[in-house]
Amino acid sequence: MSSINRRHLLAGLGAATGLVVAGAPPAPALARDAEVVRRPDGAVDWAAVRRLFRTEPGWTNLAMFYISSHPTPVRRAIEHLARQVDADPLAVSHGLSLPDGPTGWDRVRSSLADYIGGRAEEIAMTASTSVGLGVVYNGLVVKPGQEFLLTEEDHTSQRTAARLAAAKFGASVRFTSLFRDVTTTTVREITERLAAEIRPTTRVVGTTWVQSSTGLRSPIAEIAAVVRAANEGRAPADRCLLVVDGVHGLAAIDADAARLGADVFVAGTHKWLFGPRGTGLVWVSPTAIDQFRPTFISFVGSAGAAALSPGGFLAYEHAFALPVAVALHQEIGRPAVAARIAELGDRARRGLRRIRRVRVHTPLAPELSAGITCFTVDGFTNQEVIDHAAHHHVRLSESTYSNTPPFVRIGTGVMNTPAEVDRALEVIAGLRR
Ligand SMILES: Cc1ncc(COP(=O)(O)O)c(C=O)c1O
Repeated sequence: MSSINRRHLLAGLGAATGLVVAGAPPAPALARDAEVVRRPDGAVDWAAVRRLFRTEPGWTNLAMFYISSHPTPVRRAIEHLARQVDADPLAVSHGLSLPDGPTGWDRVRSSLADYIGGRAEEIAMTASTSVGLGVVYNGLVVKPGQEFLLTEEDHTSQRTAARLAAAKFGASVRFTSLFRDVTTTTVREITERLAAEIRPTTRVVGTTWVQSSTGLRSPIAEIAAVVRAANEGRAPADRCLLVVDGVHGLAAIDADAARLGADVFVAGTHKWLFGPRGTGLVWVSPTAIDQFRPTFISFVGSAGAAALSPGGFLAYEHAFALPVAVALHQEIGRPAVAARIAELGDRARRGLRRIRRVRVHTPLAPELSAGITCFTVDGFTNQEVIDHAAHHHVRLSESTYSNTPPFVRIGTGVMNTPAEVDRALEVIAGLRR
């Protein structure tokens, strides 16, 4: 989408339009919100970005990466579309509109394709990362005796999807770990351990771009090279596919998700991208798509990746507002977003390391970290740390996965500020018995 069109989309919801349903109040103007994300000199105005979010006043919220707090343009786009659905639910089948034109699955998939560096026909739409992973593991053509190779640190959504699908196919799941100590691991350790684990029967290597269990940012391009090498000489039905749960990397790392070297990239678009809650995508490489079969009827499309989208009527006002979230991210700029997240995360990790009794469990190296920082405090349970922070109006969260040690987490998004990170550090440093 061009910059002018993007601004029009962000700014134009209120200027609308014969498209607003008769009798409904016009959507309020968004021009102010759209314009202020950049200063006249072109720099991002982070305070203005923050004002787009209706977070609870008085709180420092460092747990915004679970599910999106809708920023103003997305919220207004949803309201704008919902008015059209409510006025005439059948309107969905003859076209809903954002102020700059008709919206629908084609437009949603095109905007996502533009953002991830892929093509619209390579994208299936889902309601979440979890649904996407289910679509992928259940949809892959698998022979009895083949296996899915995942890691202990992958999210339970991927681990469970693999387990459930494997049980149906007479396949198996094997979990490994690609490092001994996450805080000192290297790209070399990760790739060497993976290379040693792949077997001729390995049909999937499942991995996670940014682990919510440790904060590790996995080196996907290097992992992809290992998988490529293991595939040499294999027939398509025996090929090992790289499936990436990318939900905490999408809109947090400045890279084209469709060009990382993965065969399949799965992500909710309702976390770091700030898409409407209940939205997600699956991108499938054109070289892998013929290895997948739909699990559900699809109302999105019957060919290519679209056919993998679980069908039925959906929350269209949410799904079709996704291009607005993408436009907002593009307006701020993917490099600026990623740099801000990295800067805040680095500030958190370095600050935590200076606090007595705190152990940081996320690598410090910028190439191995992103927006999630995991830590523990000696002598205190994670819940005590979280409760103490909440007492001081600082929201932290905990990774509570049965297969990995639980950690307290700081998530640093673009709605957060350096001052908030410092406030959290001050509160954590003030923990006393
Ligand atoms: C790494 C990872 N994958 C998947 C999920 C599930 O995401 P969704 O809510 O989009 O299904 C989470 C949850 O936060 C996660 O941390």
